[in-house]
Amino acid sequence: MKMISTVFLCVLLFSSSHALDFCVGDVKGPETSVGYLCKPASKVTVDDFVFTGLGVAGNTSNIIKAAVSPAFSAQFPGLNGLGISIARLDIAAGGVIPFHTHPSASEVLLVTQGQILAGFVSSANTVYLKTLKKGDVMIFPKGLLHFQLNAAGYPSIAFVSFSDPSPGLQILDFALFANDLPSELVEATTFLDDATVKKLKSVLGGTG
Ligand SMILES: *[C@@H]1O[C@H](CO)[C@@H](O)[C@H](O)[C@H]1NC(C)=O
Repeated sequence: MKMISTVFLCVLLFSSSHALDFCVGDVKGPETSVGYLCKPASKVTVDDFVFTGLGVAGNTSNIIKAAVSPAFSAQFPGLNGLGISIARLDIAAGGVIPFHTHPSASEVLLVTQGQILAGFVSSANTVYLKTLKKGDVMIFPKGLLHFQLNAAGYPSIAFVSFSDPSPGLQILDFALFANDLPSELVEATTFLDDATVKKLKSVLGGTG
């Protein structure tokens, strides 16, 4: 009896030490609020912990003249459960990452090329704004609305790291103008006039 319980304890300790090391996400299964289920440890290789591709510029030929290349848990399953992730930002001349929030993550941004004007707004509606140069780092606290725009006049690059493997991204203008929320409700809830709402809906692909 004693031996059986000792064996049982060893099995428990052994399996829990593995569970604590990592939980490479099984991204074919569902993503829950706490991430993905773990891929069997026997199938994990070093490549699950390596992401290749952030050396390549994202495509900035779009309405915001900017691109986000994510290495979040969906693209990089080795991050699952570890509370971290990373992405590359490319912002062309005249480009902007519009006002947005990551509901579940704080962000650290490191400029590696050009200059970026970045800011966030606190819950007290205080604005924290700075022009960042190569080598500068700025923090954006969890959940707060923030933006980044090109301040160099030539392509700028930053790498952003998050305190969540799946930080989420909600862009304010897209939430307001890129869906079918009726214009009169957008107007009533934002105090914007009808012409402005209709114009932004048409630019961003919204209806209603
Ligand atoms: C970048 O995106 C634009 C618009 O979607 C597309 O026309 C163009 O081919 C893309 N360029 C590259 C290099 O993928």
